[in-house]
Amino acid sequence: MKAIVFTKYGSSDVLQLKEVEKPSPKENEVLVKIDASSANPLDWRLMRAKPFLARLANGLLKPKNTRLGADIAGRVEEVGSNVTQFKIGDEVFGEKFETGLGGFAEYVSVPENALAMKPSNLSFKAAAAVPLAALTALQGLRNEGEIKSGQKVLINGASGGVGTFAVQIAKAIGTEVTGVCSTRNLYMVRSIGADHVIDYTKQDFTRNGKQYDLIFDAVGNHSVSDLERALKQNGNCAVAGFTNMARLFEISWKGGRVSRTGSKKIGMMKTIHTNKEDLLFLKELLEAEKIIPVIDRYYSLNETDKAITYLETKRARGKVIITVA
Ligand SMILES: NC(=O)c1ccc[n+]([C@@H]2O[C@H](COP(=O)([O-])OP(=O)(O)OC[C@H]3O[C@@H](n4cnc5c(N)ncnc54)[C@H](OP(=O)(O)O)[C@@H]3O)[C@@H](O)[C@H]2O)c1
Repeated sequence: MKAIVFTKYGSSDVLQLKEVEKPSPKENEVLVKIDASSANPLDWRLMRAKPFLARLANGLLKPKNTRLGADIAGRVEEVGSNVTQFKIGDEVFGEKFETGLGGFAEYVSVPENALAMKPSNLSFKAAAAVPLAALTALQGLRNEGEIKSGQKVLINGASGGVGTFAVQIAKAIGTEVTGVCSTRNLYMVRSIGADHVIDYTKQDFTRNGKQYDLIFDAVGNHSVSDLERALKQNGNCAVAGFTNMARLFEISWKGGRVSRTGSKKIGMMKTIHTNKEDLLFLKELLEAEKIIPVIDRYYSLNETDKAITYLETKRARGKVIITVA
């Protein structure tokens, strides 16, 4: 089968479309014939080993795991002997984030608990946009952010892959949402449900005197003191993204101190945990059209390098899809 492989770290030039062995599913796995995948910042971070600490996990000099691609949507081709919830031909979507990636390929084996039936109203391409970004938004808002209906919620990075899901999930939960993005994305962020929008090129949301019960930050470009200022008493801030290592350490260390000593909580969110319950929760919201994937561009599997180069500009408007079939 064909797959994207990288055997050294670097720019997207290191990505090669190669012929590799088709996987066979283990007892608890499902072999999926992939129709589409989607690109995430995780892919370019692993490809470039950026931050450098990524090398501790994936090889100091060259990548141990040579595959990329966390999100998949496609048809079940084969099932492992212990699989009970899927059969050949089922249309599924899910996640390879915790089990070695490999979504930029024609086939992938996925544990059955990291899959769900594809939302009936979505194409494979649209379903592939969902897993990692929407799980990040959901788990950040709910687990770290402890989101509650009626709250005032601010989403920083509202126009990106994670942010477009965060705006819609926060609205579906019944909150008043403010989305932060640049001028060209103001209309789109309003169109997916944001009650208010802030153009970060004209106004800094941490310095305009407004405060929120919950800030979900998918950019990670503000200091802890800035975020603290924009939070109400007892407010929570979950940070999903980071712009550099200094900011990551500051939010982890200083955010931890603020959270322990004051009434406000600020911290980096944990890496997501893929689970069927959350995928099913998202499927329900998608089928009810409470959330709709925002898709910026489509690239074919042999154009994955171009897709990753585009995502690295940090200007994607929603999700970037890799079409395989
Ligand atoms: N913790 C986890 O498990 C987890 C999982 C997934 C992702 N993440 C992290 O979450 C972050 C976001 O991921 P993503 O998939 O949403 O990335 P993305 O799609 O590449 O984000 C691009 C978006 O960021 C916006 N943006 C860039 N600079 C901004 C700024 N200064 N203020 C507000 N918005 C800005 C851009 O909007 P404009 O063009 O309008 O500027 C663009 O729409 C990444 O750092 C990623 O590594 C964490």
